[in-house]
Amino acid sequence: MDLDLQNIKQSVEQELGVAKDHGALEAIKIKYLGRQNGLLTQVLRNLKNLSEEEKKKVGPMANEIKNWLTLSLDGAIRKMGNKRSGDQYFFDPTIPGEKQYIGHLHPHTQIARKVADIFLSMGFNVVEGEEVVNDYYNFESLNIPVDHPARDMWDTFYLGDEKGKKLLDEKGKDLLLRTHTTAMQIKTMEHQKPPIKTCVIGKCFRHEATDVSHGYILYQIDGFMVDENISIANLVFILKEFLNTLFGQQVNIRLRPSYFPFTEPSYEVDFSCLSCGGRGCQVCKNSGWVELLGCGMIHPKVLEYAGYPKGKYTGLAFGFGFDRLVMLKYKIEDIRHFHNQNLKFIRQF
Ligand code: DAH
Repeated sequence: MDLDLQNIKQSVEQELGVAKDHGALEAIKIKYLGRQNGLLTQVLRNLKNLSEEEKKKVGPMANEIKNWLTLSLDGAIRKMGNKRSGDQYFFDPTIPGEKQYIGHLHPHTQIARKVADIFLSMGFNVVEGEEVVNDYYNFESLNIPVDHPARDMWDTFYLGDEKGKKLLDEKGKDLLLRTHTTAMQIKTMEHQKPPIKTCVIGKCFRHEATDVSHGYILYQIDGFMVDENISIANLVFILKEFLNTLFGQQVNIRLRPSYFPFTEPSYEVDFSCLSCGGRGCQVCKNSGWVELLGCGMIHPKVLEYAGYPKGKYTGLAFGFGFDRLVMLKYKIEDIRHFHNQNLKFIRQF
């Protein structure tokens, strides 16, 4: 019996290999699975005449071959599709279709493109910038010297070799993964004379524990503008224009005094909660306002580091967590969803 079954399998394989059209496939089906004289049907029919012991052995094997044969035939029919062969035209409407998922942009990318479009429309240059920078660009030139307590605001990943020794660049400066996109400010200014309007959108890295609102990879947007006579009025206009366009409605903002080493004066900006219209809800913790970003007028020392003549230019700058913006826009509750590659999450957008 085993041998019969093995023979059947072998000859089916061979016949499937040379079947050229649907007629040939149908013939194979009848030859082996035909109700009256199908070779496999006969084996199955004869099972009842076998001893208990043989039944246990042959039964499962025969069923397995039957399933295999059915699947192989289905596969071969599907593969042959509507191919015309001779005068035959075959379309089997009973074969279930396969659902095709059409890929689409990650929610992050969708909003990043929208944000980039808005800043481009306001005349900004939009760049991604470098993720590995040296200490000078990430800290020193932003008025955060070594040992400055403000360094504690950013837990930094320094680059090291396999023995843990810090890697330095050619100027002897520590290399690190940028902790904020602000690291592109001096890099940009060094090569460009005002007027400058640049927006940096990209990845930053922080050496900190993750939770629903913190990841060690985060995305930030940093914008800055340098020219003669730039003032807070420009800053307020740009931020309002940006939020109005992004959210498609009138958004109110308020500025609160704050501290950043690279801006003076510095502010924290909140916008009116869009979920409750300012009445108070979970999103805004019942305050009616949602914290969004840090900003201010670029510190004169930073402009000096850029090599600009003292007192000639002023600048504005602002920076914010991009993940948070996407989370607010789509009501996403956990930042870790963004990069855990869960298609169930991504397909919702
Ligand atoms: N870089 C700051 C941070 O990571 C955010 C920031 C604040 C950027 C003020 C700016 C700014 O450009 O002016 O927390």
